[in-house]
Amino acid sequence: MTPLSPLTIRGRTLLPVVQGGMGVGVSAHRLAGTVAREGAMGTISSIDLRHHHPDLMELCRQNPVQATLEAANQTALAREIIAAKALSEGRGMVAVNVMRAVASYAEAVRTACESGADAIVMGAGLPLDLPDMTEGVDIALIPILSDSRGIALVLKKWMKKKRLPDAIVIEHPAHAGGHLGVASVADIPSERFEFARVIEETMQTFDSLGLSRTQIPLIVAGGINSHAAVRHWLTLGASGVQLGTAFAVTEEGDAHLEFKRILADAKPDDIAEFVSVTGLPARAVKTPWLVRYMRQETKIREKIGTKQQLCETGLNCLTACGWRDGIEKFGHFCIDARLSAALRGDRETGLFFRGREILPFGSAIRSVRELLDLLVADIRPAVSA
Ligand SMILES: Cc1cc2nc3c(=O)[nH]c(=O)nc-3n(C[C@H](O)[C@H](O)[C@H](O)COP(=O)(O)O)c2cc1C
Repeated sequence: MTPLSPLTIRGRTLLPVVQGGMGVGVSAHRLAGTVAREGAMGTISSIDLRHHHPDLMELCRQNPVQATLEAANQTALAREIIAAKALSEGRGMVAVNVMRAVASYAEAVRTACESGADAIVMGAGLPLDLPDMTEGVDIALIPILSDSRGIALVLKKWMKKKRLPDAIVIEHPAHAGGHLGVASVADIPSERFEFARVIEETMQTFDSLGLSRTQIPLIVAGGINSHAAVRHWLTLGASGVQLGTAFAVTEEGDAHLEFKRILADAKPDDIAEFVSVTGLPARAVKTPWLVRYMRQETKIREKIGTKQQLCETGLNCLTACGWRDGIEKFGHFCIDARLSAALRGDRETGLFFRGREILPFGSAIRSVRELLDLLVADIRPAVSA
C-alpha cells in the first residue's frame, strides 16, 4: 500500500488528517495537544473555555458581568493553548478555531497570536479581516468555507492584502457536525457543496488568479470515516481531511464520557438539522432538549420570535443572537447554556452537535492514536473494545 502524501502547512509536514475545532470545550488542550503530538494538526475551539477551569468559573460566579466573563474566557484560551503546546512536545501543529459570528472573535485571534498558537482556523462567517488582525505575526491562517464562490471571494480580498491562506477547509453542510455554512436548511443538499465540484472549481479559481494548483492545501471536512475515504479525497485533489465527531469521541476528547456516548451511540435517524440562534442551520443528536425545541419551534417563533431577551449567561457571546436580539427567523434559545450542558454530559438539557455519518469505530470509544492509525494507514486495533 502506498503511504499517503503528507499535508504541508506553512512549511510544517503533518499527517494528512486534521482534528477540527469543537466548542464549547469539546476540543481543548488534551485533544488538540494529543493530536499534535501524533504529528497532525489539533485544533482548540476558542469558544467559552472557562468551563474547564473551576477557578475562572468561581471568579465569574462572584462577579457575573460581561467584562469578567470575557476576560476569563481569554485567560482560559491562553492556558489551553500553552497546555496543548506542552503536550504536543513540539510535534504537529496546535491551531485555534475562531468563529467569525462570535462577538469576541478579535480578542480570540489576539490571544491565539500572543499565546503561541501555530494556526488560526476561522469559520461561521467570512474571515475577510483576518490578515489585517494578524499582520506581522508568523501564524498560519486557514478559512473554513463551503463552496467555491466563498473561496474565490476570500482569495481575491486576501490577495489585495498580499496574503494567501495557508490552507482552506472545505466543509460539507450535508455531512459535518455543528453549525453549517448554508443560509437555510433547504440549501443543505445543494450540489454546489459536493467536494469534487468545490475542489475542481477552486483549482480553476487558482488558475484564473495565477496561483499554482498545489500552492494552497485544500482540506475536506464532513463525513470522512475510513482510510478509503481519506485516500479517495487525496487522490481527487485534496491535501488533507478534517474530522470532528470521530475525534470528539476519542478517549482524549475533552468532553464528559456521557457526551461521547451520546454521539457514538446515535443512529442516522437520531440526528437532525435545525436553525441555530446564529441564524445558521446546525446538526445535532435528537436528545430530549432538541426534540422538545424542534417540536415547539414554530410556536416559540410565533410567540416570542421578535421579542428581545436578556442574555441568560451575561456573556453576550454572539454578534447577532436570535434569542437576545429577537430575530424571528433565527433560533430562540441560549446556545452557550445548551452547549455547556452537553460538555458536562447532561443528556436532558444539553445540545449535542454531531456529524451525520457512521463513525470509523462505530460506537466504540478509542484513542487518538488508534483513530489516526486507522485513517492514515488502515491499521485496525487488534482487540475490539
Ligand atoms: C461537537 C461539535 C462541535 C463543533 N464545533 C465547531 C466549532 O466550534 N467551530 C467550527 O468551526 N466547527 C465546529 N464543528 C465542526 C468540526 O470542526 C468539523 O469540521 C466537522 O464536525 C466535520 O464533520 P464530521 O463531524 O462528520 O467529521 C463542530 C463539530 C462537532 C461534532
